[in-house]
Amino acid sequence: MEEDGHYRPEIKAHSLEKIRRHNFYSALFSKSMRKKWANRVYIGLYAGAGRALIQPGSELVETSAVSVFRQEVPFTKYIFVDSDRRCIDALRARIDAIPAAFDVTLIHKEVNCAVPDIVRAMPRFSPATGEGMISLCFVDPFRVDLNFEVIRQLSRYTMDFLVMLPLGYDLRRNLRHYLTADVDNRVAALIDSPNWREEWRKSREPDRHFVRFILKKFDKKMETLGYRQRKWEDTVTVKVTGMGVYLYSLAFYSKHELGEQFWKTTIAGTEPQYDLGL
Ligand SMILES: C[S@@+](CC[C@H](N)C(=O)[O-])C[C@H]1O[C@@H](n2cnc3c(N)ncnc32)[C@H](O)[C@@H]1O
Repeated sequence: MEEDGHYRPEIKAHSLEKIRRHNFYSALFSKSMRKKWANRVYIGLYAGAGRALIQPGSELVETSAVSVFRQEVPFTKYIFVDSDRRCIDALRARIDAIPAAFDVTLIHKEVNCAVPDIVRAMPRFSPATGEGMISLCFVDPFRVDLNFEVIRQLSRYTMDFLVMLPLGYDLRRNLRHYLTADVDNRVAALIDSPNWREEWRKSREPDRHFVRFILKKFDKKMETLGYRQRKWEDTVTVKVTGMGVYLYSLAFYSKHELGEQFWKTTIAGTEPQYDLGL
């Protein structure tokens, strides 16, 4: 891929796995839902610039916010949120350069403050027309800084969530900090559990089970919103390329069995990494 003169952050090779899984699922979702749902909304939280440079090696690749436009059946509306002005400007330029017209809203904001903007951008339609609306939200933060309230509010729509949980990147590396620094409430906000430290201590689990503990808490919270109980083996675990070091988990949540089946198809169709490995 040639440089286009717009901002492109640097990423590591392991990010490609996440992008591949995302591309497969979003294409399957929109294609399969086309007949039943006239309105299909894609939301990209922590959207990025649409292109990135893989380091080491300097290969230029398309990232999720642009690759989602390459699929056979497009969504009918796209909403992206990123707090970095350079990402928003570059993404706008790249979407404008695609030779087709799409309905796109770009929101330059912190994700945790962006729900009112997202709601304003969501299509208005009358259920009386029998049209219906279904959405897919890809949540892709660098660090643990997502407030669960964002998910809670968006879950009022018919919406599936594909969530990247950077539990190795950030949490496992900084475990002592998170466990001792009562001032840091990011984990509490992510899993919506102010008393998580107490629960963790009571569990008497070894540190190596911490990621699983947080992931299970997140799953339970999703279940309180009506999402199906996720099968543990459906977690995609991403590790440092060529090494066994855990980086993050990619978890999918749907209220419908069909969504779960699509995710299984995605995992099978985007091998090689499919394991529990936590
Ligand atoms: C992991 S990257 C996104 C990668 C992209 N989704 C992809 O497919 O490669 C995270 C993005 O989140 C943005 N970001 C970081 N903190 C944010 C926040 N609190 N609110 C909104 N965007 C944020 C960064 O500017 C960056 O573009």
